[in-house]
Amino acid sequence: MPNLKYKRILLKISGEALIGDSNFGIDPAVMNEIAEEVKEVVDLGIEVAIVIGGGNFWRGVSASAEGMDRTTADFIGMLATVMNALGLQDAMEKKDMMTRVQSSISMKEIAEPFIRRRAIRHLEKKRIVIFSGGTGNPYFSTDTAAALRALEIDAEILFKATKVDGVYDKDPKKHHDASKFEELSYIEVLEKDLKILDSTAISLCMENSLPIVVFDITKHGNIKKAVMGNKIGTIVNKRGD
Ligand code: GTP
Repeated sequence: MPNLKYKRILLKISGEALIGDSNFGIDPAVMNEIAEEVKEVVDLGIEVAIVIGGGNFWRGVSASAEGMDRTTADFIGMLATVMNALGLQDAMEKKDMMTRVQSSISMKEIAEPFIRRRAIRHLEKKRIVIFSGGTGNPYFSTDTAAALRALEIDAEILFKATKVDGVYDKDPKKHHDASKFEELSYIEVLEKDLKILDSTAISLCMENSLPIVVFDITKHGNIKKAVMGNKIGTIVNKRGD
């Protein structure tokens, strides 16, 4: 067994990361790739919990900006995360990975309810727990759900998997001179309004000293590198606070 830096991690996968080459929804090839990479990590003996977003199907904030009731828009978004969780579970089970999907919104026909102690028991048995349904409340993002669940299950770190290889001072897709931060403090993220995670999620991590690593999930091997503690993406921690 290699020297493992972490015993239990929470991996936040954004809905957008699942779109791949499709215009919308789930690209099965991306789902398979993610499942494969998570398998490599689980095979090392690391306990993995996942919070999955829903932005590939629905963005609650955009819908509410166009006039929909915010609560309704957010509930639709929460349902989208359940679709993604079931898709990911399917891809993982095809690779003989043991998974359990829990939902913050009661939907007992298709997912277990979120029960913290039960989730921890699954992790101890080396099952991958996929948390869906966000926090179960409107006005909270799936990033906040990720921070909350990470704390509840005593994860040592939150890995935020995105399509960008870290946090930049400006949008690297629009600005060629954008520079990447290797390390940031929670306060810097809030003060610079970097929007890598929303402020509720960052505050929760800050108050509980939960480190966050933001990295690019679309590059093969990155999940394993990240959990092995290799320098990758941007780390947000207590530095300078
Ligand atoms: P252990 O008790 O540790 O063996 O865990 P387990 O998850 O295997 O136990 P259980 O017998 O409760 O679950 C068997 C299967 O049923 C698993 O795939 C669970 O995800 C699923 N399951 C359990 N509770 C629910 C539920 O409320 N709704 C749905 N849809 N599935 C459930």
